[in-house]
Amino acid sequence: MHRLTFEPAGPPRTVALPDGGEAWLVTRYADVRKVLTDSRFGRAALHAQDAPSRSGETGLVSSLDLIFNQDGEDHLRLRRTMRRAFTPRAVARWRPWIETIVEQCLDDLEAGGCPADLVSGFTLPLPVAVISKLMGLDTEARDRLRHWSQYAFSDGSHPEEEMASALAEFAAFGAEMLAQRRKEPGEDLTSVLVTAADEEGGVPEGQLIDLVCGLVVGGHDSTMTMLSNSLLYLLGERQEVWPKIAADEEAAGAVAERLLHLIPLGDDQGSPRHAAVDTEVGGVVIPAGSVVLADCQAANRDPEVFAPRPLGDLFAPLPAPTLSFGAGVHYCMGAWLARLELQLALHRLAGRIPGLRLAQPGDTVEWHLGSTSRSPRRIEVTW
Ligand code: HEM
Repeated sequence: MHRLTFEPAGPPRTVALPDGGEAWLVTRYADVRKVLTDSRFGRAALHAQDAPSRSGETGLVSSLDLIFNQDGEDHLRLRRTMRRAFTPRAVARWRPWIETIVEQCLDDLEAGGCPADLVSGFTLPLPVAVISKLMGLDTEARDRLRHWSQYAFSDGSHPEEEMASALAEFAAFGAEMLAQRRKEPGEDLTSVLVTAADEEGGVPEGQLIDLVCGLVVGGHDSTMTMLSNSLLYLLGERQEVWPKIAADEEAAGAVAERLLHLIPLGDDQGSPRHAAVDTEVGGVVIPAGSVVLADCQAANRDPEVFAPRPLGDLFAPLPAPTLSFGAGVHYCMGAWLARLELQLALHRLAGRIPGLRLAQPGDTVEWHLGSTSRSPRRIEVTW
């Protein structure tokens, strides 16, 4: 079954990076929030052209142009172009067509009969359909999404040349999509972004391309991962909550929040930052130039903030905001969209198929390899 070990929360301490370098690991809730919200801890220096690779990150995640790797004004300019599109109120307006997509995916799943694979039958097609409609992707791009994601979120195990060529193809797709929307703007988010960026002025084209590409892959891969892992856990270990998730949409939302809080997207040690100057965190001075790993998964289990058995009651609200979407300036742009997709997916799936159960022992599940996000390749189910 999907079990990972988590660092106990404690004072900042040094750990070895996979490349042999050293980093400061930060694990307590208050300390992780401090690192993520303090501008002395940035991202750009980790991937600057003249810097040796300091974070272990590869693929699109290590691109200098990616929004996630911008600091200060460069970062704010990109956030401004996106901000209006991604408010909770704006996402609430997308609800009707997201509901329609959920129902269509469930129609297809049921029509295919059982036994079925829940990944290819539901947890992948749902977020792919949502991001495709949102960004205005054509069928050809839709078919390439998984291919691009594999390289964008590579764990570094792909051969260098293969990786460079896949990412170049992905960037060419992004550039073409932007050019096309400038010519013929539509209602989709890509058109909104390109118009906002051109009005704002000064947004380098490379940053806009990476923004669009990042949304295309980040906007479905993480939701798929979270939905697959959540269902594997619920069906494998928590069947008793299924009827309430089916009956009560709000309860489904509360369960989604708990699962988001506790199920990690991947096995990484924490989100890397670079300390610009000597900075005190939790009583320890982290020296200028250090790589700092903000371990949100450890912080989400900090016993000072969260009860020691956090998975117990899945319907109970969290006592403090989860760090699963980060905190501070890089807080996840898609948090409200992801929450809504998860809530609707769990609620409608449980409502439509009350007798859904695993058709394979949980510990026989095979995992996707080569990616920083950790999710099952298939989940065999029946009903
Ligand atoms: C369950 C689903 C998701 C999870 C758990 C998740 C998690 C995260 C986290 C932890 C960060 C911040 C990383 C850090 O500061 O170290 C982040 C950033 C981001 N996320 Fe998500 N995400 C999810 C879904 C989405 C979706 C659906 C979208 C878009 C449609 C999205 C777009 C972004 C963007 C653009 C950023 C970068 C923001 C910036 O650098 O300013 N995410 N996400």
